[in-house]
Amino acid sequence: MSDSNSGQIDNVMQEDRLFPPAASFSEKAVIKSMDDYQQLYDRVKADPEAYWEAEAKSELHWFEPFDSVLQKDGIDVRWFDGGKTNICYNCIDRNIDAGHGDQDAIIWEGEPGDTRTLTYNQLHHEVCKFANVLKGLGVGQGDVVSIYMPMTPEIAIAMLACVRIGAIHSVIFAGFSAEAIADRNNDASAKVQLTADGLWRRGKIIPLKQTVDAALEKSPTVEHCIVLKRVENDCDMTNGRDHWWHDLTSEASDDCPATPLDSEATSFILYTSGSTGKPKGIRHTTAGYNLWAKKTFQWVFDWRPDDIYWCTADCGWITGHSYIVYGPLAAGATMLMYEGAPNFPAEDRFWDLVEKYKVSILYTAPTAIRAFVKWGDQHIDKHDLSSLRLLGTVGEGINPDTWIWYHEKIGGGRCPIVDTWWQTETGGIMMSPLPGAIPTKPGSCTKPLPGVVPKIVDESLEPVGVNQGGMLCIAEPWPGMLRGIWGDEERFKEQYWSTVPGCYLTGDNARLDDDGYYWIMGRIDDVINVSGHRLSTIEVESAMVSHPNVAECAAVGRPHDIKGQAIAVFITLKDVEASDAIRDELKLHVRKEIGALAVPDDIRFCEAVPKTRSGKIMRRLLRDIAAGREAAGDTSTLEDFSVLAKLRGDED
Ligand code: PRX
Repeated sequence: MSDSNSGQIDNVMQEDRLFPPAASFSEKAVIKSMDDYQQLYDRVKADPEAYWEAEAKSELHWFEPFDSVLQKDGIDVRWFDGGKTNICYNCIDRNIDAGHGDQDAIIWEGEPGDTRTLTYNQLHHEVCKFANVLKGLGVGQGDVVSIYMPMTPEIAIAMLACVRIGAIHSVIFAGFSAEAIADRNNDASAKVQLTADGLWRRGKIIPLKQTVDAALEKSPTVEHCIVLKRVENDCDMTNGRDHWWHDLTSEASDDCPATPLDSEATSFILYTSGSTGKPKGIRHTTAGYNLWAKKTFQWVFDWRPDDIYWCTADCGWITGHSYIVYGPLAAGATMLMYEGAPNFPAEDRFWDLVEKYKVSILYTAPTAIRAFVKWGDQHIDKHDLSSLRLLGTVGEGINPDTWIWYHEKIGGGRCPIVDTWWQTETGGIMMSPLPGAIPTKPGSCTKPLPGVVPKIVDESLEPVGVNQGGMLCIAEPWPGMLRGIWGDEERFKEQYWSTVPGCYLTGDNARLDDDGYYWIMGRIDDVINVSGHRLSTIEVESAMVSHPNVAECAAVGRPHDIKGQAIAVFITLKDVEASDAIRDELKLHVRKEIGALAVPDDIRFCEAVPKTRSGKIMRRLLRDIAAGREAAGDTSTLEDFSVLAKLRGDED
């Protein structure tokens, strides 16, 4: 975790470039200057309850008013207790009530080029029908609905229909394997599964229903499966269990009033990697989450009514939840949603979409930006990107040079970049430039949003000095914070609240510079970030070891130009010699166990995996080795790390 004895992390990054917002941008911005930001930040910090009370009253619809703003009993935090509201109502009905029913909510384009647009009225119609479909299958308040679907408007409709009736959705990224779906379904006791006959990815059909069929064999709690027809792909339909989406919705009524729900009712769970390999269902609730998603969307994206906003994430991740569905819709935005790959039919697809729909705000991931850099400027030069006024990034740190490229090539030098730091657990953005107010520094997420009180401490829990890295914690509750890990309160306490008393432990390291800017330095633990997706080493290792010829496995991340990190695994074999054939077989095995995301780029065979005396794998050593020898070279070489391990000493 740390290179020095004090537990602090050395700062090795020097970045002095500063980009103040253009005066023309600041004039029209929601928050116009550093002074405005600082005043708001200080006001919220001094009296958070007064601030959030007023915001909750003005920004959300209440079926019943709340009795208290914030109640805190140890790690049990309740926002707006006693009140009743509904996220779906706030995202749709409230905008219709305000006269925006005919405004476009979702402009969608499929990978093959087909398009659909849904106004707020049309979205209301579709969501109500589908909510009635769910009710018709016996889904009620507190039941879990598992969603494994393509990025079509129906995934948003499904999520909104769940929260409309108080059902809890668990969206599983449509690239995960049957095993991963079954694990999550079982952990959540999911009652209904939603999927599709397939999805389009780089011109090919990915048969989702087949994967779901395998998952449902091992998901005994799932009673029904609803299948959307997206690609006209044949699929087996099990009588009594499986139903076509269009059959059920064609008969459903569109009259479905939103259920008034407790502020603290669970709205959704979203699984994320943990260090033990068991998937961790992050639990979010209703009023606080809704308010946080909406406010942060308005602040960070400086949203204005004529914007066309595009977040390129997938609804399978938290970014899709908060900044495709709940934040933008609660704010009454018009958004673009795209189904497919950025390089289909060619590497200019994103820029084609920006030009075609006159996108003004683009929110994407550093891994995508690195791919664009690699694919070459000729794909960008073909298109008119002058509609863009603001750019954002999320998911991992962005290298300053990539930031500069994004700023100049995509933003034409005129668009501020919001580098947004946050997590599945935080529900919404925690640190980010406010684009009209805070000058940016490439690679820094700059400042905490109002209501966020960060603290950086070393291993002895002492605050670190300026420019020294340490563990990033959040010292005060905020409305969007996670409320638990589904079915595992002990783990919730242990993982987030026990290391630094009274503070939420983010699991990231960070440093504060001379100007009070924050720089995220990566995970404290060993999670590997492939293309912006967090995978835990232990999940990859466990999948490997489940192969009969694998005795032991250590997985680490190594730098990768496009993906950010690639997975390198070190394996000791049993009953078989090292060969290309076994390497290929292991890759296939991981693909089956976890999904394509987790397939290692490097598989190296070794006599023994180096360990500390207490039995922990020496990942730091392996990381150095994985990074230093990019070409894996001879596949049959068995490496012996024992000498190296002895040289480095134990790392307990
Ligand atoms: O390590 C941080 C990194 O991604 C982690 C959260 O991952 P996840 O829960 O999957 O959510 C991703 C979308 C919010 C963080 O703990 N991370 C995310 N954004 C940034 C980042 N690291 C550096 N800079 C960022 N802007």
